[in-house]
Amino acid sequence: MNCKYGDHCCLYPGSFDPVTLGHLDIIRRAAATFDTVVVGVLHNPDKQGVFCVEQRVDMLERACAEIPNVKIIAWPGLLAQLTRDTGIRVVVRGVRNAADLDSETTMAHINGRLDPGLETLFLPASPERADVSASMVRQLASFGADISSYVPSQVLPDILAAFSKS
Ligand code: PNS
Repeated sequence: MNCKYGDHCCLYPGSFDPVTLGHLDIIRRAAATFDTVVVGVLHNPDKQGVFCVEQRVDMLERACAEIPNVKIIAWPGLLAQLTRDTGIRVVVRGVRNAADLDSETTMAHINGRLDPGLETLFLPASPERADVSASMVRQLASFGADISSYVPSQVLPDILAAFSKS
C-alpha cells in the first residue's frame, strides 16, 4: 500500500503537552533521515493534559516552522489505526534511558501486532536533551521555575501564560 504522505516517511507520535527541545531534537534528526516526518498529536490515556489538542498542534507548527519536511496532524484514536489508514510503515520514538527503552519496546510490540509490518525505530536522545520531558517542564512551570532551556522559544510564552493562570 502506498503511503498517503509519500514512500519515505515516518510517524513521530506523542502527547506533546507541550513540545520540548527534546522532541524538537528528535524531529530534526528524523527530518534529516526521512523525506517526510508526520508529527502526530495522539491521546495518552495515562496522562492528564494541560493544553488542548489544538494548542499542542499550534505550538508544534510554530516550533517546526523552519523544518520544511514536517507535517503536524492530530489523531484521536489508536496509533495502529493511523498507520493502517495512512499507509505509514515506520514509527520513530525517542529514548532517553533504560526505563524508556523498556516501555517503548512493549509499545512497539503492541503496535506491531495491531499493524503487522509496522516498524518502530528508536532514536537515542542527544546527551544534552536526555533530561528533558514534557511532564518535567509542566512541573517546573507550575512552580514558576525557569523552563527557557527546555522548550522552543516560540512556545515559551504559551507555557508561561498557561501556568500563570493556574
Ligand atoms: O508522548 P507520550 O505520552 O509518551 O506518547 C504516547 C503516545 C501518545 C504515542 C501513546 O500513548 C499512543 O500511542 N496513544 C494512542 C493510543 C494507542 O495507540 N495506544 C496503544 C499504544 S501501546
